[in-house]
Amino acid sequence: MTSFWSIWVIVLTLACLALIFGLLIWNLKNYTGVEEGESCGHEFDGIEELNNPLPKWWTYMFFATFVWSVYYLAMYPGLGNFVGLLGWTSSNQGVTSLEESKQAVLDAKESGLWVQLDKEFEAADERFGPIFKAFAQQDVLALAENSEALEIGQRLYAQNCAQCHGSDARGGLGFPNLTDKDWLYGGNPDQIKETLLHGRVAAMPGWEAALGEQGVKEMTAFVLSLSGRKVNQKDAEAGKSKFAMCAACHGMDGKGSVAHNLPFGAPDLTDNIWLYGGSQRAVEESVRHGRAGVMPAWKDILGEDKVHLLTAYVYSLSQDK
Ligand code: HEC
Ligand code: HEC
Repeated sequence: MTSFWSIWVIVLTLACLALIFGLLIWNLKNYTGVEEGESCGHEFDGIEELNNPLPKWWTYMFFATFVWSVYYLAMYPGLGNFVGLLGWTSSNQGVTSLEESKQAVLDAKESGLWVQLDKEFEAADERFGPIFKAFAQQDVLALAENSEALEIGQRLYAQNCAQCHGSDARGGLGFPNLTDKDWLYGGNPDQIKETLLHGRVAAMPGWEAALGEQGVKEMTAFVLSLSGRKVNQKDAEAGKSKFAMCAACHGMDGKGSVAHNLPFGAPDLTDNIWLYGGSQRAVEESVRHGRAGVMPAWKDILGEDKVHLLTAYVYSLSQDK
């Protein structure tokens, strides 16, 4: 908030409080010239208005809320930019990166600022940390059979992963399905853990410049033919003759990085499972402009123990029960 708006808010808030206080005080006195409990002299449909003062209990309650509001405004942030005498804040605001966040937590601790979110995180770590630690000692394959571990894993998944991979983990356009055996980076425990810890950045270049308009059409035809789709045979042949430029990542047979033990995350183009859609238009778009999916790294966000548990959960999703 700029200082103009800060002052604006402060003036409005205090003026409002002063007004209400004045109104309350004014109401405590009898200015009407009519005795208490006597008629004010008007009558509506047989109902007469008497001059009754505010009930005492109500007046005291009003004073109490008033005192509370002053105390609250002094202690907690809320009056413009004023941060409050308690130094309380709900979270570290204005933070845009993990580094900034870590620094902000340290700074807050040092200055004795009472950041509620950090406190709650710390308390949760103290309480649940040992549970995660104990699970982290166990092998992923064992955890994948442990229903308690999977239940916790599922909750971690719902909180951190579902927004991209879906609550049923079946993914969506651009977000891989985690319940099938079609992997970009491999589905054994070590590979999954590596994906979760350090994230993945896919880099499929665009080929428009290299292939030209006709070339993109032909290559698309060939790619579609790999999964048995009916395409123009001549186009597909022409595409095939240039597929060597794709082989470094997708393999000469188009079966993808995992099949060839490569680290690029290039999908299998022969299985009719599409990360970005399998319509001619979608595939053409992939070939023309390239694709660059990003899976965030979780090591610093969740810590290794939780990632270990999540690895077991993700691994379990694609195993036949
Ligand atoms: C911001 C969106 C986003 C979030 C949140 C996210 N992911 Fe991902 N994830 C992706 C994308 C995009 C990819 C595919 C990267 C690529 O295109 O190569 C991916 C890839 C993966 C893969 C590799 C799949 C394969 O076929 O090899 C796994 C496993 C995975 N995510 C698990 C998780 C888990 C577990 C979480 C929660 C801790 C999570 N993801 C959170 C976007 C996300
Ligand atoms: C540098 C490695 C690399 C090269 C070379 C490469 N690709 Fe890819 N390709 C990828 C990666 C990685 C992805 C996945 C992108 C993502 O997950 O965001 C991908 C995705 C695709 C997709 C989308 C698949 C889907 O499931 O939606 C198609 C189609 C494709 N590539 C075709 C090609 C063709 C055709 C060529 C050659 C002209 C080629 N690629 C060359 C790495 C490569």
